[in-house]
Amino acid sequence: MANALGIVSPSVHCFRRRNRAPLGLHGSEKKTAFICLAAADGGVEGRVLDSASSRSYRPRAVGMGSKLVGCGSAVPKLLISNDDLAQIVETSDEWISVRTGIRNRRVLSGNETLGGLAVDAAKGALQMAHVEAEEVDLVIMCTSTPDDLFGCGAQVQRDLGCKNAWAFDITAACSGFVVGLISATRFIKGGGFQNILVVGGDVLSRYVDWTDRGTCILFGDAAGAVLVQACGNDEDGLLGFDLHSDGHGQRQLNAPAKDDDSNFISNNNGTSLFPPKKSSYSCIQMNGKEVFRFAVRCVPQSIEAALEEAGLTSSSIDWLLLHQANQRIIDAVATRLEIPSDKVISNLANYGNTSAASIPLALDEAVRTGKVQAGNTIATAGFGAGLTWGSVIMRWK
Ligand code: ACO
Repeated sequence: MANALGIVSPSVHCFRRRNRAPLGLHGSEKKTAFICLAAADGGVEGRVLDSASSRSYRPRAVGMGSKLVGCGSAVPKLLISNDDLAQIVETSDEWISVRTGIRNRRVLSGNETLGGLAVDAAKGALQMAHVEAEEVDLVIMCTSTPDDLFGCGAQVQRDLGCKNAWAFDITAACSGFVVGLISATRFIKGGGFQNILVVGGDVLSRYVDWTDRGTCILFGDAAGAVLVQACGNDEDGLLGFDLHSDGHGQRQLNAPAKDDDSNFISNNNGTSLFPPKKSSYSCIQMNGKEVFRFAVRCVPQSIEAALEEAGLTSSSIDWLLLHQANQRIIDAVATRLEIPSDKVISNLANYGNTSAASIPLALDEAVRTGKVQAGNTIATAGFGAGLTWGSVIMRWK
């Protein structure tokens, strides 16, 4: 993809849906899962997974379509207004709301966690879908800010009681939910999974520099979830998609690992061996202007590619639901796609940029307020750090 601004490399490749898998069944043999666990005496014991552990295999129909049947969301209690921010950095409610459309955001406090928000959001999606936790096959946790370095999908699975599911995390910043949604449809189409929870959640407040007025005004914390369910190909609600990444743009938006290797580990003789890298992450650094230009240029192209795959045009969609980063980006993309403002979903005034949560958070609000109705077609797109970006054309229910 060419980009006159030089942010996106000319060689960047895109990934779209191709090759529908044929209808069929996996083999019916049942595999026995065997794991090693640390025993109480410090040794290692082996045991066969019991019913409380994730199920590794079952006969499955493949080649199915996917539809969205439930959504939910959760936000932290603490609300931080633009006026609150004006007390800690040199800014104003007017500057922030005019330049971004944001007025308030929610920020994690007390004993709130990303996992807790994710569980609450997922419960809402399960309830709306009339699906029990035990019926879920897979939990995909899309986040760049897990409670644990190794991810928190499995803890979300545990806390939801999804005892027949397995779980993993996806890291793709503000594109995370779109990547998770597309991944879910692949597991249904290629692997015969029936019910998949896709949770988008981020708590970027953990990595915000609260003295940097260029970034601290933008971000908020939240989680949103959808339940993606297998259906017949004739009901397939995931109509087209388009995905991209380009690491050349990483310099425009990042929060790199920070190594403190000033202290050496010594051996028993007192000889220095090596400096352990006591690592943490830097705060978010962003070239806002370049990210803005990247989004306004690349997101419409991506949506057009996904629409083309779906055999649709922008005039035939019911809703445009973009990652909620900046109202001016949303407006500019809508204008380029010639989508009228009454078809544009936006709730970032209340929540700011909630990264991987923003799309399911806005979808949940739009569904629960009756804006989005069964059968509506939605063009959605995520974009952000990586750089990563991608679009999905989907039907609600
Ligand atoms: N309050 C008051 N003044 C400010 C503030 C503030 N909060 N922030 C910047 N300014 C000043 C600047 O210092 C500058 O002053 P100067 O002209 O005297 O130098 C002036 O306002 C203009 O600054 P810009 O950075 O050029 O402002 P811009 O109009 O570009 O808006 C913003 C900045 C809101 C960050 C915008 O660029 C933006 O939204 N970019 C996109 C961010 C985004 O979409 N990120 C998505 C991905 S997030 C992820 O993936 C994790």
